[in-house]
Amino acid sequence: MKYDAAQRTFDCEPSLTDTQVLEFCRQGYLFLPGVVPDHINQRTCAYLEGKIPATPSYTPPGMTREDLERIRTSHEPSSIFLEDWFLEHVLLNPQLAGIMRALLGKNVGLPVLASHHRVECPAQPQGWHHDADHLFGPELHFIEVFYFPQDTPVELGPTELVPGTHLGPSRREPQDQGVLAAGPAGTLGIHHQSILHRRGLSTATGLRHMLKYNYWRTVPPQRDWITEAHFDPHTAYYGGHNAARYAAHMFYWLCGKADQYRIIGGQAWPWSSPNQIGRSYGFGHQEGYLPDWRKNNQDGYAYP
Ligand SMILES: [Fe+2]
Repeated sequence: MKYDAAQRTFDCEPSLTDTQVLEFCRQGYLFLPGVVPDHINQRTCAYLEGKIPATPSYTPPGMTREDLERIRTSHEPSSIFLEDWFLEHVLLNPQLAGIMRALLGKNVGLPVLASHHRVECPAQPQGWHHDADHLFGPELHFIEVFYFPQDTPVELGPTELVPGTHLGPSRREPQDQGVLAAGPAGTLGIHHQSILHRRGLSTATGLRHMLKYNYWRTVPPQRDWITEAHFDPHTAYYGGHNAARYAAHMFYWLCGKADQYRIIGGQAWPWSSPNQIGRSYGFGHQEGYLPDWRKNNQDGYAYP
């Protein structure tokens, strides 16, 4: 792990394979249950509840200690990023860092803004929503992470999300179920910022903290994660109808090959079925279409 304090970036070995990077393109999330040590989880709760003094490692340029104290008690307590213990064990958590490095390239930019989602449980679920200012497209310039510093079983209303909904506008009814990020204290969730989600229903009594923040890309994308000799972009599984074209576009963008991505529609690549007796037609076309991420065209394709 190389941490650059001046740039607030880090570099380390990427921990995802081709298959896992593509899986993220298809699903839009990953969960790491209980990866932050307990003494750090407890310290985070104490910090957020004002029970321990702040010990910032420095005061950012243009700010004062009073600013940091005000920020600490706000709904955006970003001053916690200045605590060395939080930096080492949460922001630079080894399991998280390897994933960020795989998806965002070298010299990953650390978060600058924290959102504190503090809820007195029990509470009704939120409505399903895409967060403000979300963007649908093949690019992955940043990734959102959430951190639960206390045990967050289903009863305490963990974040709930719908796999694959980062690929375009989606709607769900309140009674529809998603995937719950339930887990022990120290659970980190990683998700595409555009994914449909909500705070789940909570039935237990207690205080639920959740911190949410973004990691940032600082370099152009390239396929420098763990490559697999058997991975073939022609035959890889990109998803079903109305999904494969987007996941494949994102994967190509991450490989630094978005300019080579063209599709011809129908049953052609990147779509495929396990029941076909040969490889999909349409791979490697130099002319063709792009997926219509903006949804301006009825058939879902855009001419580049
Ligand atoms: Fe949200």
